[in-house]
Amino acid sequence: MAESSTNPLGRPLLDGIVPEEVVARTEKRWIKLMAATLLVMMAVIVVTGIASALHPPSNVEVIDPTTLHLQGEFVESNLGTAVEPDGSVTVRLIAEQYDFIPHCVQVPAGTPVKFRLTSADVVHGFLLPNTNVNTMVVPGFVAEVRTRFTTRGEYAMPCHEFCGLGHHAMWAHVRVVPKERFANPTYLERTRCVSQ
Ligand code: CUA
Repeated sequence: MAESSTNPLGRPLLDGIVPEEVVARTEKRWIKLMAATLLVMMAVIVVTGIASALHPPSNVEVIDPTTLHLQGEFVESNLGTAVEPDGSVTVRLIAEQYDFIPHCVQVPAGTPVKFRLTSADVVHGFLLPNTNVNTMVVPGFVAEVRTRFTTRGEYAMPCHEFCGLGHHAMWAHVRVVPKERFANPTYLERTRCVSQ
């Protein structure tokens, strides 16, 4: 009977025709290989998801999103652009449905700029086109990105993580101004784009 299942015609197989049992054995091997590949991929997703994926790619620094407005680095009076003792600039922003606070910030050209962002509600994104600035803004974490603007101009910064019905309208702006204009920014210049 075994012979008839491998060769139903009862005649020798033609050259190039693979016997059924060989096909079955090969298919079983492929099934095992594919199942193993799938298991490995799923394990990678689960492990990275639990252990390391859900945080901004740049920086693992936790913060309580429910008390942002009450205490710490992201209170309203501390938002916007700050000049550090070494001349570099730190910009602090809060992302929330559906805006960045402040809505527009000014930074000097030709100066190291560090953006520090956090979210007050859901996951947002922060992207400056044609620069290296591109990060997720996750509630509970501080995202930090460093860059340097070489040319003056205005950058639109869209939120690029879907965050709700108003996502498409969530934009803010970075205005790059000449370095000289940035020696002693007033409070207004730190927290909004003052027309030149
Ligand atoms: Cu915020 Cu999309």
